[in-house]
Amino acid sequence: MPAWLEVPADANDLAAGVWPASARRTADGALELAGVSAAALQASFGTPLYVLDEDEVRVRARRVRAAFCAAAARHGADARVYYAGKAFLSTEVVRWVAEEGLAVDVCSAGELAVALAGGAEPARLGFHGNNKRPAELRRAVEIGIGSIVVDSLDEISRLAEITAGAAVPQRVLIRVNTGIHAETHDFLATAHEDQKFGFSPDAARVAAARIREVPGLALIGLHCHIGSQIFGSSGFAASAARLVELHAELLSGGDLPVLNLGGGFGIAYTRVDTPAVIEELADRIVDAVADACAAHGIPVPALAVEPGRTIVGPAGVTLYEVGTVKPVELGDGLVRTYVSVDGGMSDNARPALYGAQYSARIVSRASSVAPALARVVGSHCESGDIVVEAEYLPGDVAPGDLLAVPATGAYCFSLSSNYNYAPRPAVVAVRDGRARVIVRGETVDDLLARDAGVTSPTKGEA
Ligand SMILES: Cc1ncc(COP(=O)(O)O)c(C=O)c1O
Repeated sequence: MPAWLEVPADANDLAAGVWPASARRTADGALELAGVSAAALQASFGTPLYVLDEDEVRVRARRVRAAFCAAAARHGADARVYYAGKAFLSTEVVRWVAEEGLAVDVCSAGELAVALAGGAEPARLGFHGNNKRPAELRRAVEIGIGSIVVDSLDEISRLAEITAGAAVPQRVLIRVNTGIHAETHDFLATAHEDQKFGFSPDAARVAAARIREVPGLALIGLHCHIGSQIFGSSGFAASAARLVELHAELLSGGDLPVLNLGGGFGIAYTRVDTPAVIEELADRIVDAVADACAAHGIPVPALAVEPGRTIVGPAGVTLYEVGTVKPVELGDGLVRTYVSVDGGMSDNARPALYGAQYSARIVSRASSVAPALARVVGSHCESGDIVVEAEYLPGDVAPGDLLAVPATGAYCFSLSSNYNYAPRPAVVAVRDGRARVIVRGETVDDLLARDAGVTSPTKGEA
């Protein structure tokens, strides 16, 4: 049992900040999201089901943008917020964030296609990745993408070929490893030296010189992303200071109008998580940039950030139906109730990938039965197929209960798989008492359609 987990006074409560602001229990004790009952969602769309609260996404997008624009304006600079599409991308979400004034960051041809299909303006797209294929780079240049974040010398050579003879130079940034090790899971920390992303400051100097020799490329700035699910501002501030130092040095070779500080702002997955308030975080990060610029005697460039999780994470709730409930003796009189649900690591890989912690509630009803220590597990053939490692659920949790896991809007749908040939769940958006499918769920026929040996798709239907 994690040290932070306490027996709750009420195993029905919905912790503020972990659930969307619209989440509430109705008079009968059942959950409602944006005015739509969880039971109605189950009846209409089945489970597992990803539910996304549209207003929560919009409010969060608006708030991040306002926070960084206000912080930058205090130093006479502009700020642009890119929504990091890798957190969750669908055409609908592209439309929501674009309407809230955000640009979009993509990191594959697939994400680029979704962003374009969602109506994103090419000039307001950024393109990331440590191994962008030549065809992906060609496509990005062809559509007039706003910027490409260059990650290797090989990529510069590829772009030089692709942009040869171009009338308008392609705008690029250099991804820099500032050497800051963010305090987060190792696989989520991305700016320490021994990993695959970006250039060390020395290598970035070489990259800048190369880019500046290529007529088809325009170097517009530096980029850094130190990692994800970061709560404090000190890592961002330290990284920004190193980035500004390099930025100041490279100004001697030409203008660098943009400084992109990446994403990574943490969210509350459980009640003990205390992420920074976004306005305070924006102020501290931007002040750190401004202080470093002042120390080098240079103006503050236009700033960019690219958060994903903080915009969509808390807006998502995954619904599951409980299938089996099994008490397991742990010794010393301790019992853990294993609650198996109809999804698992195929719809939420984060616990298996990062040891991520989540919380859960029974949402088809409230219960006054004393809480029992539970582990919510999936239906897959792995003992690591854990959805919620430890949670107190009402002791009468039973097959047929509807169970919800909050804070699943980011990196669940986008990391989902077909492990054990599980069809991936639908995504439903809720707003003002209405629900609509924004990504349809897969069927077994969808899965069979890829198997070259299947001649009659419906043969596979159970
Ligand atoms: C380069 C880059 N930018 C932005 C993000 C978004 O991070 P987060 O969703 O934690 O804000 C990521 C996440 O992996 C990333 O790699």
